[in-house]
Amino acid sequence: MEKPSTVAAVDVQALERAALGAIDAADSPDALDAARVRYLGRRSELKQALRGVRDRESGMALNTLRTRLEAALDAKQAELDRPRADPTFDPTLPGVELARGSLHPLTQLRRRIEDVFIGMGYEIFDGREVDTVYYNFEALNTPEAHPSRDPQDTFYIDGNTVLRTHTSPSQIRAMEAHEPPVYVASLGRVYRRDTIDATHTPVFHQVEALAVDRSITLADLRGTMQAFATAIFGGRREIRMRTSFFPFTEPSVEFDMTCYVCDGPGCAVCKYSGWIEMGGAGEVDPAVLEAVGYDPAEWQGFAWGLGIDRIASERHGVPDLRLYWENDIRFLSQF
Ligand code: PHE
Repeated sequence: MEKPSTVAAVDVQALERAALGAIDAADSPDALDAARVRYLGRRSELKQALRGVRDRESGMALNTLRTRLEAALDAKQAELDRPRADPTFDPTLPGVELARGSLHPLTQLRRRIEDVFIGMGYEIFDGREVDTVYYNFEALNTPEAHPSRDPQDTFYIDGNTVLRTHTSPSQIRAMEAHEPPVYVASLGRVYRRDTIDATHTPVFHQVEALAVDRSITLADLRGTMQAFATAIFGGRREIRMRTSFFPFTEPSVEFDMTCYVCDGPGCAVCKYSGWIEMGGAGEVDPAVLEAVGYDPAEWQGFAWGLGIDRIASERHGVPDLRLYWENDIRFLSQF
């Protein structure tokens, strides 16, 4: 018996002929889309017939037609997508090399440092580059008369607002945002009025670390610094602490690590001392804990801060900090 060619008031064969003809004739993606809408779209004869179908046989015939049309559309689409042979194109000519960008060396170091802190269980905390005198100085126990508050050294936006001079205000903001214990690292730009030369830029970058927990001691500070320095510089770095003073730590230290280039005897990178200066640190001053409502009888902490521009320079032998700001591709492409 011959297959019925008319189901549900549709001449399946005629429809197939017309649709395949239109698909075949399509010579552009737009024409193909038009054919797709016309023969398979929601309002197409086929879709309307499918919606109205009542018996199994008609359903099968219409579905077979739909499958065939879809296959024809896909095949035509692939044909249209294929690049046309261009007689003027010579595949044997060498290509044009595209200049690829790369991350700025300070961004690379910053990300590495963040990874190391995350590996030690710290949270990365973003502070504010524009902050108030309260967060930048007062909450950090820095008295009104302290020289670092001087407008000669600090960029004031108004009497109450500064470009932060260090990342330490992140300590206060992190403690306000968390109940203790707190383990945070905060990285970013800091600003100080300085005349620009090879070793000074008015904008530079610091990383701040803060740990607050029960019975934190200087030994924890030292161990964490050592783990950090070893992770960033490799080998086994030793840490040395020298007494110092910061208003927001007590006791305060400055810390050095053994030179990662010569490992002790002295070389040009450590200026023949065997040690590389890292930054400032100490146990969080109880007055700072009180300023954020932590009970210093229960909670202790350590904090440290260091500049990363100089570290990157030592690491890569960059002789002049200004190079980081010039965006000269000849410099940047070396990292
Ligand atoms: N904020 C200090 C600076 O910029 C460094 C520091 C951070 C010291 C944390 C102690 C604790 O010099």
